[in-house]
Amino acid sequence: MSYQNIEVADDAGVRTITINRPDKLNALNIATVGELDAAVAEAEADDQVFALVITGSGGKAFVAGADISELNTLGPVEAKEFALRGQSVFRRIELMAKPVVAAVNGFALGGGCELAMACHLRVASSNAVFGQPEVKLGLIPGYGGTQRLPRLVGKGRALELLLSGRNVSAQEAATIGLVNQVCEPEELAAVVAKILGTILANGPLAVSHCIEAVNSGLEMGLDDGCMLEATLFGVGAASEQMREGTAAFLERRKPEFTRD
Ligand code: COA
Repeated sequence: MSYQNIEVADDAGVRTITINRPDKLNALNIATVGELDAAVAEAEADDQVFALVITGSGGKAFVAGADISELNTLGPVEAKEFALRGQSVFRRIELMAKPVVAAVNGFALGGGCELAMACHLRVASSNAVFGQPEVKLGLIPGYGGTQRLPRLVGKGRALELLLSGRNVSAQEAATIGLVNQVCEPEELAAVVAKILGTILANGPLAVSHCIEAVNSGLEMGLDDGCMLEATLFGVGAASEQMREGTAAFLERRKPEFTRD
């Protein structure tokens, strides 16, 4: 599939989707959200893709938010549809059975922060800036920010950030749990590749099951979440990957997982 606003590249089973509107700091207009949806669906369906990286083009921004020039014209019904559309794309990312890493290489504001939060892991360059500045525009976040931010950083910190709309440095983002790791800008791709290398050496089914257990479990009570965990634990025990992983440990060798 060919795209106008994003770029897609593959390297050793890792697909990178780059939001590519650098002159607009990669702001997400409706066309870009649609392309992102299609590209994520493609990555999901492609059995040669084992992991996904989402990043922004140019040295300045990951994504500077939803496109404000489009927001400016929306009425209430359209605005709700606009929010639901973005939410469904970000939910698709969050529910991917393959690990998804946001490589945050600059401004991650508004929809950019929300996009990063929908990914499973966030790695930020030291010049990255996070924030939900929507209140400054007389808006609230519409792509899941009011829901995922408190899940990641806690209610008190989330409300402080949402109500003030202030920027958060990469370092502060790491301190409050908004990002997993911070590195120098020139090291970002290598750091993400290293993290994914570690993940992809593990049992593929187990990795998918961890994502599912955490995503679904956070929406359940503890008893239901533990029941889901036990069920997935059982499903894993029916797999050749589990036999191989445990046998490799006992035989003091590295496991060789197959992706079937
Ligand atoms: N929507 C639409 N266009 C955007 C945008 C957005 N969210 N963010 C940046 N742009 C555009 C600017 O309008 C400008 O376009 P122009 O050159 O055609 O005028 C271009 O990107 C560069 O942005 P500029 O503001 O000139 O860069 P800066 O370095 O002075 O400031 C930011 C960078 C990120 C601080 C600033 O662009 C900003 O505050 N953006 C909006 C962030 C936001 O509120 N996001 C939430 C939206 S819901």
